[in-house]
Amino acid sequence: MLPLVLLTHPLPAEWLQSLEGRVRLIVGPEGTTGFPEALLKDLPEAEGLLTLLIDRVDGALLERAPRLRVVSNMAVGVDNIDLRACQERGIAVGNTPGVLTEATADLTLALILSAARRLPEAAADARAGRWKTWSPTGWLGMDLNGATLGIVGMGKIGQAVARRAAAFGMRLLYTSPHARPEVEEALGAQRVPLEQLLEASDVVSLHCPLTPQTRGLINEAALRRMKPRALLVNVARGPVVVTEALVRALQEGWIGGAALDVTDPEPLPPDHPLYQFPNCLIAPHIGSATWGTRRRMAEMACANLLAGLEGRPLPYAVQGTNL
Ligand code: DGY
Repeated sequence: MLPLVLLTHPLPAEWLQSLEGRVRLIVGPEGTTGFPEALLKDLPEAEGLLTLLIDRVDGALLERAPRLRVVSNMAVGVDNIDLRACQERGIAVGNTPGVLTEATADLTLALILSAARRLPEAAADARAGRWKTWSPTGWLGMDLNGATLGIVGMGKIGQAVARRAAAFGMRLLYTSPHARPEVEEALGAQRVPLEQLLEASDVVSLHCPLTPQTRGLINEAALRRMKPRALLVNVARGPVVVTEALVRALQEGWIGGAALDVTDPEPLPPDHPLYQFPNCLIAPHIGSATWGTRRRMAEMACANLLAGLEGRPLPYAVQGTNL
């Protein structure tokens, strides 16, 4: 009998080719957020889970899955998974590091450029007939050349953003638990405390994982430290920013604007106050959304899943969980 795997949401069949003939697959419904109700009844038999970042995998869920051997998350972030609960039960956890670095860095630059040059506002005005003439003072934005970019979290994605920003002539500050001499030497980036980064940056871009230390890192005090024209960019995880504080910052003009690929909550309800600000650009968590990247993420997730089911070390194991 082939092992039962629950895939929480549908994926294109060609991304899952390696699973053919090796697992019994039950696929959850399209369009849900959170671990699908429809799959709960199958948990007692499941030996593998192929999850997305929107699925919460916690102790209570694992209690219902006594045969589970592997949780394979099709994401680099694993804040949706209780790693300790998995470890205690001997369940291996895999993710998809590295492969989405360039796509996510590309999107970060797209957000920085769009927010700096007020592209969404300008495009909406043109479409709505508000482009009456060439206005010398219309839609003025920020020069990136010579501006300071503060990168919070200088991991793989932070570094890829730094390389791109340097090509635009930006000066680089960063904060990170570890010094990155290679980035300092190659790009002239300077490691500074968070407070200094917030005060000196024209654009603050978040690239840290969501951990107990980074949850709520960008709170009212942090936002108040930023320059009044500075932009906040978040492509990390929504809860790194305190949403209510950001709403107030935009309402009261503590900062110049925001560009968010991730929000708290996610999805952001259509009537959320953040949508009311023309200087707040919101994308629906699309950092890794390219055909090539998403396919490769799915393939890595399948490789992790098969390894876990076969009792081999996962090729892309979350640290400390390769059991
Ligand atoms: C991840 O993989 O963690 C990203 O947020 C997906 O875009």
